[in-house]
Amino acid sequence: MSFRTALTDLFALRHPIVLAPMGGVAGGELAAAVSNAGGLGLVGSGDRAWLTRELSIVANTARSAWGVGFLSWAVDLDTVRWVLDEYRPRAVLLSFGDPSPFVESVRAAGAVLMVQVTDHEEARRAVDLGADVIVAQGGEAGGHGAGRSTMTMVPTVADLAHPTPVLAAGGIADGRGLAAALTLGAAGVMVGTRFEATHEAVITPEQAKAIVAAHGDDTARDRVFDIARRSPWPTKYTARMLRNEFFDNWHDREDELRADTAAQDRYLDDDAAAPPVWAGEAVDLISAIDYAADVVSRIAEEADVALARAARRRIDDV
Ligand SMILES: Cc1cc2nc3c(=O)[nH]c(=O)nc-3n(C[C@H](O)[C@H](O)[C@H](O)COP(=O)(O)O)c2cc1C
Repeated sequence: MSFRTALTDLFALRHPIVLAPMGGVAGGELAAAVSNAGGLGLVGSGDRAWLTRELSIVANTARSAWGVGFLSWAVDLDTVRWVLDEYRPRAVLLSFGDPSPFVESVRAAGAVLMVQVTDHEEARRAVDLGADVIVAQGGEAGGHGAGRSTMTMVPTVADLAHPTPVLAAGGIADGRGLAAALTLGAAGVMVGTRFEATHEAVITPEQAKAIVAAHGDDTARDRVFDIARRSPWPTKYTARMLRNEFFDNWHDREDELRADTAAQDRYLDDDAAAPPVWAGEAVDLISAIDYAADVVSRIAEEADVALARAARRRIDDV
């Protein structure tokens, strides 16, 4: 069973499911696997060596539309133009920061302009810029983002952006999440954390196992690791990760850590320091490491069942 939405029409997809462009995790193999399974694979951002390697893989192995994501606050125009010229992605997703410097180049290359937003103001700006697709991200999401919840963000942005298609992101890992997103007015979903626990993701076996073992309660959102590693991420954005000892130690003391350069040095010099595992509340719904194609088809099948069940209007298990 497949769903037809404005998103599936735009990219000729079988399923309204987009792989989130997870930096360092969503490489060419994962993006191609999602695209070849009927969704839309987006390669995550990284340096030129990463982009060259991963975009070559997806360009050579995807048999249908694929795209790439950039961090608006971090990427430069030359890089965006180089990727557009060299690899011809069908879609470009711009997240976190002002997307306007890149809009003209994306349009000139004929790519679909997607913008991920975390609040009302960003959603308004994306509409004004004429984004073709807007991704409304809630704070349940893994990795960087902000505080809004998916449940209220999606219908709010869908109303604001209409008729522009809106995707839901944050906390979606199974078909119930896709069914809910469609019901809230979305044209599809963008999924990150669930795809981290796949064989195609660029992730260590230990990290994948930690994601499978974790509960949503084991995740939290703050700036501790960006402060510790002296990352220039805009302070507006926090990041959700699996809590660890370092995180718990500094969680409520961000200002203290910001002032404590010796503690930052210790973190940066500690070879044994556990790197953060960015992951969202959706870890609750992940019980195995799977192939990406199976994740895509299962989410679509489960959504079909969930919507049929809800349409019966008598919600029980008979
Ligand atoms: C490991 C990881 C890395 C991420 N990196 C990026 C990124 O580089 N660019 C981006 O736009 N979003 C990034 N995100 C956020 C996703 O785009 C998306 O909003 C999020 O994964 C959706 O929520 P979910 O994780 O609950 O599915 C990342 C998410 C994760 C889990």
